[in-house]
Order: sequence, then C-alpha cells, then structure tokens
Amino acid sequence: MATPYLQLLLCISASVICRYVGAATYAVPLYKLDTRINKAVQEASLRTRSSSDEGWLPYNRGNLRGQPGEGYYVEMAIGTPQQKLNVLVDTGSSNFAVAAAPDPSITTYFNRSLSSTYTGYWAEVNVPYTQGSWDGVLGKEVVSLTSVPNVTIKTSLAFITQSEYFFMNGSEWQGILGLAYAEIARPDSSLTPFFDAFVDQMNINSVFSMQLCGTMALLNGSSRMSGSLVLGGVDEQLYEGDIYFVPIYKEWYYEVVTTDISVNGRSVNMDCKEYNFDKTIVDSGTTNLRLPKKVFKQVLDMIRQDNNLEDQPVPEMFWTGDNLLCWPKDNTPWSSFPSIEITLAMSSNSTVTLMLTPHQYLRPVSSEEETDSSTMLPFQDCYKFALSPSESGAVLGAVVMEAFYVVFDREQKRVGFAVNTCPNKAVAGLHPQITGPHFRENTMDCAYVKPENHQSTLLTVAYVMAGICAFCLFPIVIIFIYWQIKRCQNEEGGTEDINNTTDVRELLKDESTDR
Ligand SMILES: *[C@@H]1O[C@H](CO)[C@@H](O)[C@H](O)[C@H]1NC(C)=O
Ligand SMILES: *[C@@H]1O[C@H](CO)[C@@H](O)[C@H](O)[C@H]1NC(C)=O
Ligand SMILES: *[C@@H]1O[C@H](CO)[C@@H](O)[C@H](O)[C@H]1NC(C)=O
Ligand SMILES: *[C@@H]1O[C@H](CO)[C@@H](O)[C@H](O)[C@H]1NC(C)=O
Ligand SMILES: *[C@@H]1O[C@H](CO)[C@@H](O)[C@H](O)[C@H]1NC(C)=O
Repeated sequence: MATPYLQLLLCISASVICRYVGAATYAVPLYKLDTRINKAVQEASLRTRSSSDEGWLPYNRGNLRGQPGEGYYVEMAIGTPQQKLNVLVDTGSSNFAVAAAPDPSITTYFNRSLSSTYTGYWAEVNVPYTQGSWDGVLGKEVVSLTSVPNVTIKTSLAFITQSEYFFMNGSEWQGILGLAYAEIARPDSSLTPFFDAFVDQMNINSVFSMQLCGTMALLNGSSRMSGSLVLGGVDEQLYEGDIYFVPIYKEWYYEVVTTDISVNGRSVNMDCKEYNFDKTIVDSGTTNLRLPKKVFKQVLDMIRQDNNLEDQPVPEMFWTGDNLLCWPKDNTPWSSFPSIEITLAMSSNSTVTLMLTPHQYLRPVSSEEETDSSTMLPFQDCYKFALSPSESGAVLGAVVMEAFYVVFDREQKRVGFAVNTCPNKAVAGLHPQITGPHFRENTMDCAYVKPENHQSTLLTVAYVMAGICAFCLFPIVIIFIYWQIKRCQNEEGGTEDINNTTDVRELLKDESTDR
C-alpha cells in the first residue's frame, strides 16, 4: 500500500531537487540605443511606461531638446520561418506583444500571414500604459531568443494592430516583453505571460536577473549591447559582493516597500507610508525614478538646497524634465549634485539602503549643439533630470536598476540587489552602494494599504438595506406566525373553514380587540 505513495514522494522530491540543482540559465544580451548620438530619438518625448490605470497622457514636445533613448530590448525570432524583431524588456507589465501591422514609427513588423505556426484566437486586447497604449489580437506563436541556441518555446502573445504613442520613432524596438505576474496581464490573469511559459517549457527556476549598464556602457560605440537578462537564475560574473534581498510585498508588479528616502544622507522625514503611495514597484520599462508627488517635491527641494552651482544657476525647466543641462565636454560638476538613498524593507525589522550617485539621475542625452558648428561650445555633455513626480505610486525605474544587478526571484518571492560589474564603472566613476541590514521596527507598516472604500461602502449599503427589509418584514412574519397558531387552534376546534380566515389583517384586528 505504501509503495506507490513512496514512489510518488520520491518523484516529487527528485523533480524538486532537479529544478534547483540541474536547472539551466540562459543569458540574453540586452541592447540599448546610444542616446548621445541618436537624433531620431530626440523627436520622441518624455515617456515612462508601466501598466497603470492612468491610461496615456499627452506629452509636451515644445521645449524638449533631447531625449534618452528609452528602454532595453532583446532580439527575438518569431514564427516559422523566423521573423526577427526587437522587444522592449519591461518588468512593469505582463503582456508580450509585437507589432503586426505597419506604423510610421517602426521600420519592421511581424507579418502573420507569412508564418505557418501562427494561431490566432480572434480575441482582442487593449493595453494602456502610463503613456501610450495599443490594441491587438491574441494568438500563439513559436518564439526563439536569437542569442541563445536551441531555445524555442510556444507562447501566447498579442499582435499589435493599432497603437497610440506606443512605438517611438527611432527606438529600434517593435514589441514589448512584460515580465511581471499574470495578475496584471490583459485581458485578464488567465493569460499565461511569456516568462511563465518559458519556465514551464525550458524547465528552469522561476528567477530572472538583469544587469542594465546604461548609455555610458556604450563608450565603445560598435555594439549596442548594454546589459544582460539572465533567465533562470543569476550569473556570478554580473555582480560583486552580496545580493541583498527584499521581499516582494505583492505579486502583481514587482512591488516592494520603501521605508525611507534621503538626500546626501539626510532623510526626507515623511510618514513612510507616503513613500509607497500607492505602491513602490521595480520597473525596467520606466526610465526615471518616479516618486509620489509629495515626496518628489520634498526630494527636489533638498536636491536644490544641496546643489551648489554658483556659476551656473540651474533653470527651472531642467528640474521639470523639459530642458537639458549641458557642460563643456568632460566638465560635468558631478560633486555639485547630492546622492539619493532609497531604503527598502528587507524583513519586518530590517532594511537595506540603495545609494544612487548623480550619474544615475542625470541621464546623458545628445544635444542640438553637438552638431551646431556656430556655437561657442562644439562639444558638450548634456543631461536630462531623471526624477519625476508620479500619481500612481513610486517607480524604481532604469535609473535605479542601472546602478545594480537586480534579481527577480519569483521562487522565493523576493527581489535582490547587488553592486553590478558594468564595464563602464571605473571609466565613469560610478560608485553606487548598498548597505544593510539596518535595524528598523515594523517596516511593513510603511506599506500603503488601499482603503477598500468602494467595496466597504457597498457592503455597508447592503447591510443597511438588509436591515430595513428585515424590519419591514418583521410584522408580516409575526402575522404569519399568528395566523399559523390560529389555524392550528381552529383545526383543534375542527369546525371552522380555513378559507374563511385567510385575511391576515382581520386576524390581527381580532387579536387587538381581544386585548
Ligand atoms: C521618424 O524619424 C525620421 C527620421 O529621423 C523622420 O523622417 C520621420 O518622419 C519620423 N516619423 C515620425 C512618425 O515622426
Ligand atoms: C504579409 O505578407 C504577404 C505576402 O508577402 C503580403 O501580401 C501582405 O500584404 C503582408 N501583410 C502585411 C500586413 O503587411
Ligand atoms: C542545438 O541543437 C543541435 C541539434 O539538435 C545540436 O547539435 C546542438 O549541439 C545544440 N546546441 C546547444 C548549444 O545545445
Ligand atoms: C572596448 O572594447 C574592448 C574590446 O571589447 C575592450 O577591451 C575595452 O575595454 C572597451 N573599452 C571601453 C571603454 O569599454
Ligand atoms: C528580527 O526579527 C527576527 C524574526 O523575525 C528575529 O529573529 C530577530 O532577532 C529580530 N532582530 C532584532 C534585532 O530584533
């Protein structure tokens, strides 16, 4: 009797062991545009992308003179025969989608009628991001990672037929790979996201990690490779020191809990719930470090206090992200800008602090002057301020991720941060740091808990209504009971016809007169 049970147990434990010991990892190069030299990207404007209820917001092209080339992308081969496309890697959404129709902002797209393995569901899907949105058709296809031999999986994906402010002129990607949880997939969470399918079919651990190296890693020019995406685990070449893990507070986005934010080591000193209003997510698809409005204002005030550029007052338009700030080549006064520290909850009583240098939040972009021979300064280093206010929670975007090697450990429901080994670090003088664990009580009290106003209001209304109904029914019930008793009495008497006494109101009257 016990043998099959034992066998089953052995099988389960063996497969668990295999998953952890024998599981492979796949390293995929991430590419990025060099924003210092790409002119086309300047046309596109300030954009942040992460799935949100806000829908897309119109943006102002007016004063924007330069623009970071947003996003890191991987190369994929889709369909049979294979069609190569680049897709943006986005940990802030969960849909995998590629362009399947021409669009003025892209040079190539997936042609479904050329693929023999394409299966369409004819279900339509719309995905809005913080800015931009697309409509598409759901389907299934075989997908390979071009950089990794023999990796082909069959996955659900959406074929984009129409979009608004989604593709960016000159950005070189034609699709998006959402790596967050099914919970936020569209049209609903029954859609299996790409990474879930990959884990299942390739039999790897449900872990991936990212080393984003930023524009400064593109110093060599020839290659656009600027980082790595490791599917299935971590690559020890990509980081040094310890990995500091923080728990994923909720598995939808990669939501974590911020317990403190400081500028040059001075705490912003707000109620820590404000930092997570209404969530804090780790999102490779967003460029900036976005902070809840109130927090942003406070942090900005502190940065401006700490910034001592007497000779060159910083224009207001720089802080709003509308204008660039430029210095003669190799003369950027880095030390005039403070560090920014973000402290995250590591456990209920400990925290870890991620320190960002100005190299992270001043993002190099190209300037018009660079090619303008009539200006006094033919060569400049120009930057865009990469902190911005948010109405949909804090976002630890590429600005934060570029400072660290980031591990998305879904097996153990945690996100890890370590100092990365990007090749440009020594060159650019980057010294982001991680310190911890620091002791702090009740860290989880900092998490923002959504007041369930809609539901609780409805529930209250429902209870009140039920109460009123019960109150109204009460006399009727009494009458009914009375009638039943009377009927029984009458039956005992055995003579009276029930039909004669069916009017309950009469019975009631009778009783009151009796008294
Ligand atoms: C995209 O950029 C190219 C060249 O930079 C330009 O010719 C084209 O008109 C732009 N397209 C859109 C839709 O802005
Ligand atoms: C796909 O390719 C076919 C055959 O080359 C062509 O007739 C069709 O117009 C293409 N579809 C789109 C959407 O470009
Ligand atoms: C890929 O598959 C081919 C044929 O099945 C095999 O010869 C080759 O060794 C495989 N490559 C890797 C890296 O596994
Ligand atoms: C450029 O690439 C070469 C060869 O890949 C490497 O040795 C060199 O260190 C790189 N230079 C920089 C500045 O990254
Ligand atoms: C923090 O909490 C853990 C268990 O949750 C406990 O073992 C540890 O002693 C606590 N540390 C301090 C400094 O209170």
